[in-house]
Amino acid sequence: MTYVVTEACIKCKYTDCVEVCPVDCFYEGPNSLVIDPDECIDCTLCVAECPVNAIYAEDDLPEDQRQFTALNAELCKVWKCIVEKKDPPADADEWKEVKDKLHLMEKEFAPGEEERNYPGGSKDGKDEDGLTGMDKLLMR
Ligand code: SF4
Ligand code: F3S
Repeated sequence: MTYVVTEACIKCKYTDCVEVCPVDCFYEGPNSLVIDPDECIDCTLCVAECPVNAIYAEDDLPEDQRQFTALNAELCKVWKCIVEKKDPPADADEWKEVKDKLHLMEKEFAPGEEERNYPGGSKDGKDEDGLTGMDKLLMR
C-alpha cells in the first residue's frame, strides 16, 4: 500500500507533512505535493500533520479522490524531493475549504521558478552523499 496526497493539498501546500516522513518520500510541484508510492513505508505519521486532511491511505481514498493514486505515482517521478517545511502560499488559507481544485493543479514549473524553489535541490531525493531517505533509515 501507500499513502496518497489528494486534492485538498492543491494551492494550500502547508508542507507540515514533509517534516515527519522518515523516508523523505514527498515530492513538490508548483502548488501541491505528492508521495512516491514506491518509497512510502505506510508509517501513517504524515496524516495527522496535514491541516487540511489531504493525506489518505490508498485503501481509504474517497471515491472522488481515487485518481490521485495515479497522479502521485506519475508526478513523483518528475517533481523534486522536499524534506523541509517551507512557507505555504500567501493565500493558502483562502483555499482550505475549496473543493474541486484538481483543474488548478500545476504540474510544471514556469521557467526559472523551479530554480527558485529548489536552490541546490535534488530531483531524486538523494543528499550530497548520494543517499536516499530509505538509505539513511536503514543505516540507523
Ligand atoms: Fe512518509 Fe509515512 Fe507519510 Fe508514507 S505514511 S509518506 S512513509 S510519513
Ligand atoms: Fe499538502 Fe497537507 Fe502536506 S496541504 S503539503 S499534504 S501538510
